[in-house]
Amino acid sequence: MSWLLTGGAGYIGAHVLRALQGAGHEVVVLDDLSTGVRRKVPEGVPLVRASVRDTAAVARAMTEHGVRGVVHLAAKKAVGESVERPRWYYQENVLGALSLADAMIEAGVRDIVYSSSAAVYGAVDVDLVTEDTPTLPVSPYGETKLIGEWVFRDVAAAHGLSVVALRYFNVAGAGSDALGDTGAFNLIPMVFRALSNGERPQVFGADYPTPDGSCIRDYIHVADLADAHAAAAGFAAAAPAGGSAAYNIGRGVGASVFDVMATVSQVVGYDVAAEVVARRPGDPARIVAAADAARTDLGWTARRDLSDMVASAWSAWQATG
Ligand code: WQD
Repeated sequence: MSWLLTGGAGYIGAHVLRALQGAGHEVVVLDDLSTGVRRKVPEGVPLVRASVRDTAAVARAMTEHGVRGVVHLAAKKAVGESVERPRWYYQENVLGALSLADAMIEAGVRDIVYSSSAAVYGAVDVDLVTEDTPTLPVSPYGETKLIGEWVFRDVAAAHGLSVVALRYFNVAGAGSDALGDTGAFNLIPMVFRALSNGERPQVFGADYPTPDGSCIRDYIHVADLADAHAAAAGFAAAAPAGGSAAYNIGRGVGASVFDVMATVSQVVGYDVAAEVVARRPGDPARIVAAADAARTDLGWTARRDLSDMVASAWSAWQATG
């Protein structure tokens, strides 16, 4: 009995794969390799090269590999790109979710862990975001992630599936040097890229209503995030049919852009001398998770801090040059 991991050749997927194996599960990866890379899938793990939108191929993979549950990560994930190409995001993320739900019903697979995002909340105005904070996404990306939650919730209720959605906050770090984030439009890789190019890293706005004026986020180590999927898989499998739940996956700890810059300076051993530039449109001043529900229900809690994230990301960045 295996778990089908969609998007298992990507940055987060490669970590989730190892966490599932660590929890004793057999894993089959389904990935179209549009952004994923084959070398991140270890020898001996079956890789089905297909899109989640190919319902027949997904159902066949489930039957052939004796799949008992799905961890669904395969999706488009760039906020800016989703604003420029909304139809593509709806096709890939929403039709992808529908196709996967169809394949699960066809193949008789019940349990699913769904990769959602803090982007479902939009620009919140609360200190800590709980799972009951209203979901008002402000990008097509966030909208497609929220619609995916609704697809699996409603299909679970009607067809007896069991679903756990995980709302990721700001994912960073690397579980090993070979597994770093090469996608690189997020803050920490952007800082590294600037340093590698001999440029000054940029702080997008220092006039926000926060203690140091820069934006505050809840950074979560990708290896901790991966462990949350293994915990969620166990929870989904033990839950009654028809149920659905969503959990924030963060640390409940806010770090400002200047805090991140200071941590990078410590890790690299010199002052990175960041420069303050204009705000980036659409950035909320602060978004930090209340992480209690995941601890209580899933028995999961983050173990690694911002220094661990920056140090492991820097090590991987240097290793892959
Ligand atoms: C973090 C902070 C920037 C680069 C996005 C999505 C979210 C999730 C993660 C997928 C912000 C500031 C950044 C730089 C900077 N995506 N910044 N200089 O925007 O919080 O979250 O990615 O699920 O849904 O919205 O992440 O890493 O882009 O930015 O000052 O060179 O760093 O303004 O405050 P963000 P980020």
